[in-house]
Amino acid sequence: MIFSIWRFNPEKDTSPYFQDYKLKKIPQGTTLLDCMNLIKWTQDGTLTYRMSCRSAICGSCAIKVNGHAILACKTQVSNVIKDGKVKIEPLGNMEIIKDLVVDLGPFWERIEKIRPWLMPDESERYEKERYQSIDDFRKIDESSTCIMCGCCYSDCSSLDVDKVFLGPTALAKGQRFIDDSRDKERLNRIRELSDKGGIWDCTHCGECSERCPTEARPLERITSMRRTALALGIINNIGARHVKGFVDSIAHSGRLNENILPIRSMGIFNIPGLMSLIPIGIRMIMRRKNPSIIHRSIDEVEDIRRIVEELCKRLRKG
Ligand code: FES
Repeated sequence: MIFSIWRFNPEKDTSPYFQDYKLKKIPQGTTLLDCMNLIKWTQDGTLTYRMSCRSAICGSCAIKVNGHAILACKTQVSNVIKDGKVKIEPLGNMEIIKDLVVDLGPFWERIEKIRPWLMPDESERYEKERYQSIDDFRKIDESSTCIMCGCCYSDCSSLDVDKVFLGPTALAKGQRFIDDSRDKERLNRIRELSDKGGIWDCTHCGECSERCPTEARPLERITSMRRTALALGIINNIGARHVKGFVDSIAHSGRLNENILPIRSMGIFNIPGLMSLIPIGIRMIMRRKNPSIIHRSIDEVEDIRRIVEELCKRLRKG
């Protein structure tokens, strides 16, 4: 088997390159991390990467394999070898320090921004620990499984283009505290995460949940916080207005009114925001991509209205 591994030593290399290593006779049940260790210990001691627990708990062995982030210690090598070869790279969306080691500074800074600690109501006095019901714990059960390995962060397509986006790890961590029955900062937290760079700036590509090695699945956590924000009436932002405009348009005509939606999303009194749409509008007209000015309802619009009404009722019930 050939392991094609990304190498870069800033002290002597001018640019990164791939180095191939060969291993023969790998027994069934060998993990990718076992193979990397074998290469390091028997072939090339300069190969640099992080690892610690070897049990999918600490998150430090996260790397990119064949283009996607995974935990090396949780991955059977037989599952990633293609035509006798596997390509190993450092995580994405992070600066590379050396070989497969990346700078996790900006990743931790984002997590710190969401205040990842419990803020209980200190006015209440407790003799012992603060209990939670099983139902309350279920609300944070999945997000609390996050091991902060950075796999979701690495493959997030929004972070790639939006440098102020908090990213999937920090947002999933945010839900863990927003829905914790013992935290008193719920409203403030969800307000903060509704701002620029927060829950509404995720583009729903789904890569974060695909890559997550635990049950944390950040996209589901982001979607749940959007629902919470709407239910709590935190709608003074582009994302929430976009959702509301979308639903209203479908409920009204059975289809999306693409002429009105950008204006409603931006906010009709948001003059600078509306002005920023003009160049896009002109480009659309020049390329004949603009929707028809006349917006007609579909024939079965009554059916659509009934469906929207029923969905909204269910959402309100939670
Ligand atoms: S070494 Fe700890 S998660 Fe892989």
